[in-house]
Amino acid sequence: CGIVGYIGQRNCSTLLLNALRGLEYRGYDSAGIAIIQNGQIFCHRVQGKLVVLEELLKREPLTGSIGIGHTRWATHGIPSEANAHPHVVDNIALVHNGIIENYSLLKNKLQKKGAKFLSQTDTEVIAHLVAFSLKETNDFVKAVYKAISQLKGSFALAMLCTKEPDKLIGVRCESPLIVGLAENENVLASDVPAILPYTKKVIFLNDGEIAILYKDKVEIRDFQGNQLPFHIKELPWSPVMAEKGGYKHFMQKEIFEQPRAITDTVRGHIDLDRDKLVFEEFPLTKKAFKKIEKIWIVACGTSYHASLVGKYMIEKMALVPVEVDLASEFRYREPLINQKMLLVVISQSGETADTLAALREGKKRGAKTLGICNVLGSTLPRECDYVIYTHAGPEIGVASTKAFTTQLAILYLLSLYFAKLNGKLTEIRTFLEDMLRLPHQIEIILKGAEVVEKLAPQYGNAHNFLYLGRGIYYPIAMEGALKLKEISYIHAEAYAAGEMKHGPIALIDENMPVVALVPKGETYPKMLSNIEEVICRQGKLIALTEKNCKEIGEKANEVIYIPSSNPFLKTILFTIPLQLFAYYMAVFKGTDVDQPRNLAKSVTVE
Ligand code: G6P
Repeated sequence: CGIVGYIGQRNCSTLLLNALRGLEYRGYDSAGIAIIQNGQIFCHRVQGKLVVLEELLKREPLTGSIGIGHTRWATHGIPSEANAHPHVVDNIALVHNGIIENYSLLKNKLQKKGAKFLSQTDTEVIAHLVAFSLKETNDFVKAVYKAISQLKGSFALAMLCTKEPDKLIGVRCESPLIVGLAENENVLASDVPAILPYTKKVIFLNDGEIAILYKDKVEIRDFQGNQLPFHIKELPWSPVMAEKGGYKHFMQKEIFEQPRAITDTVRGHIDLDRDKLVFEEFPLTKKAFKKIEKIWIVACGTSYHASLVGKYMIEKMALVPVEVDLASEFRYREPLINQKMLLVVISQSGETADTLAALREGKKRGAKTLGICNVLGSTLPRECDYVIYTHAGPEIGVASTKAFTTQLAILYLLSLYFAKLNGKLTEIRTFLEDMLRLPHQIEIILKGAEVVEKLAPQYGNAHNFLYLGRGIYYPIAMEGALKLKEISYIHAEAYAAGEMKHGPIALIDENMPVVALVPKGETYPKMLSNIEEVICRQGKLIALTEKNCKEIGEKANEVIYIPSSNPFLKTILFTIPLQLFAYYMAVFKGTDVDQPRNLAKSVTVE
């Protein structure tokens, strides 16, 4: 879910709506805003996306200079107007991101005291608690302290109160919340894109902090009411970076931005004059590295696929054992991780709840932690011992693209760094030159995008796809299949090509297109055999391969050629056509590319 709040001098309904647009990727099944107007709360809520709210605001405008807004991804209660936020109880309006674990207990208690509930959400409980406490304390801030002391779970809140319309209150507990500071106005939001058009001055709240925003000042307190010092950060992103810039969709823009994103990501790490890799943010001596017995990489979704590629890279180059786990599995399976191990945690947003929980589990067990993250100031980098940023810029499309390839770029450089420290690789210049050539090679693939686009009408009506790859390309096949599922809603499954004969081959017929990743190298002859197995069962074959691989050209129904590089970096090159394929298939099918149904970009609940 996305939260915003405003206090200042201007009429804020349009501002709140625009700020919510910057957060719509976090959820978009319902939306609402509440504003104090002439001492009263006026609230508009709708089921559906922000456009529906926008229409309502056009018909029935709201005016006022203090307000809150919300865009929802349902956790408790179906997407509906009644379950949409803000929730208003007496003088209080409130929006919430997160989950209140003890809500049914609290709800029973409140109902016994006479509270009437109008929704099925856990959020409404908080609004009632604050309203009750306000009656007792007659003080908005004290009422908030009292209410939140009873809550268990994760929550970020923004609240306003008609009795004290000079302030807006934000609370952060295991769910992100930031404060944006401007001239005679201040804003609250879940994430940076919401506030970029208004200010670059930001306070990233920590867990257990409350922000009290007035139009001309901000106070930060802990949950006991003690005033805390705070740091104001200047954001590096410009609002233009969060706009479509002539592209039809954010995802399309983000796919085409990858040469720039990768250049920005690797720039500070390569010193070609001295044949050196620079990782100032993660200083390691040879001795310290030798002590690391094992590396774990943990993540969710697309970042998990990057982790799997990272395992192949690190093990092959640095000869250190790597274990990869899904964050949601790692945290509950009592992982055998300890202080002799390094935990690498990968997250585009830095806010994925499962990933943060896994990080905390690893820390508890004594591991050193390294975060790879795209969002400055998000929770993950603040909790890791070390952090390396991917400089992809804001990724708005829910299906991750440039975040993935920049993660791979960092993992590649990190593997080289480890290999050097481990004495397994003495000469890295060629590897660095390959990296510097990569953005241009991606450009070549992007220039030929229409080759992929043409496939969409031919294959757009298929119901199932099989993606095949081997070795380091197997997770790339997984990522390709995930992209197709996410945005075109076509079922797609990835298999390690050698496993096809152990089951999925039963599915192959003329209605089951197969996407095969066939790079030159060790497994090339094996992939050729797998391709034969598909063809002789009438399977339709789309092959991604390299120039001079003539056999494939003759056998496959479609061939997409990829420029050559070393096997590690080819993973990035092979990814690009798979992203384009998913994108054009989704456009062909007319789905909502940037905001596919049921998904959210940043899943801040477990
Ligand atoms: C969500 C998104 C995915 C993303 C995953 C992990 O499910 O829809 O695109 O890969 O979260 O996100 P993170 O920000 O931790 O990389």
